[in-house]
Amino acid sequence: MSNKFAGRDLVSIFDLTKSEILYILKKARELKKNPKPDLLKNKILANCFFEPSTRTKLSFEAAMLRLGGKVIGFSDSKITSTEKGESLSDSMKIMSSYADIIVMRHPLEGSAMQAAEVSSVPVINAGDGANQHPTQTLVDLFTIEESQSSLEDLKIAFVGDLRYGRTAHSLALGLSNFKARMYFISPPTLSLPEEETSDLKKKGIKFSFHKSFEEVLDKVDILYMTRIQKERIPYLEYQKLQSQFILQLPHLKKVKKNMKILHPLPRVHEIDIDIDKTPHAYYFQQAANGVFVREAILALFLGGNIG
Ligand code: CP
Repeated sequence: MSNKFAGRDLVSIFDLTKSEILYILKKARELKKNPKPDLLKNKILANCFFEPSTRTKLSFEAAMLRLGGKVIGFSDSKITSTEKGESLSDSMKIMSSYADIIVMRHPLEGSAMQAAEVSSVPVINAGDGANQHPTQTLVDLFTIEESQSSLEDLKIAFVGDLRYGRTAHSLALGLSNFKARMYFISPPTLSLPEEETSDLKKKGIKFSFHKSFEEVLDKVDILYMTRIQKERIPYLEYQKLQSQFILQLPHLKKVKKNMKILHPLPRVHEIDIDIDKTPHAYYFQQAANGVFVREAILALFLGGNIG
């Protein structure tokens, strides 16, 4: 049986309405409770990663295998014909004749849209440059709802590289469906781009900018830490900025009891490992949830009978 996601692309978090986001999260919860090992039998996922990944690539792979499907793909574009000069459009057009769905990560903003335009099967954006990472947002929303029992009216602080951090862009826009109050803490050169702040204003979201996370720590329900995107800024700038925001145990003295720390990972320096054993650390559960959320995405966008 088909569903309203079948055959669509997921390029931006704006491709989903609030009710569609909630539906995907509901299906992910169901799949977490009741595995469906034959749901995508005989379906093929092409995992096309032109940039490094641990969680996104492998959780999509695990999700497909857990649903009975198969996976092809690559995680190093240097071993593909891109090295010989093949265009992204040609590569993705061909991949779409080998697989039933494509998950793609690429360093260029807009690349997912370009792939979707030429692909005959759904394209799921697994991160396009500094633009968006919509499936991470669905994982983040699932985890926020799991840890707070609701997505509505929460207070969330985003910390770190908010200029190049695509997970922060997509999550801020995704959470704008749920009337979140947002606090943005970053070095001045890495603040949230105008494109995102303008979208938040249009949606009537209250937000403010801060120089340190200490200014807001006692207010928030979610502290969303991000790493400085070393691969997108000059090395000298990275060296100056890398240690600017480091969360350590003493910072947690006055936080709310329900406050959870999320991080899309990988972590570099920004969360001291002593935090891991506190009840506020929730980033490893967040990464684990990636499998169930990506199971729901694959099943729905492939038109599986998910019940
Ligand atoms: N969160 C995330 O995108 O992690 P990876 O880069 O390891 O996929």
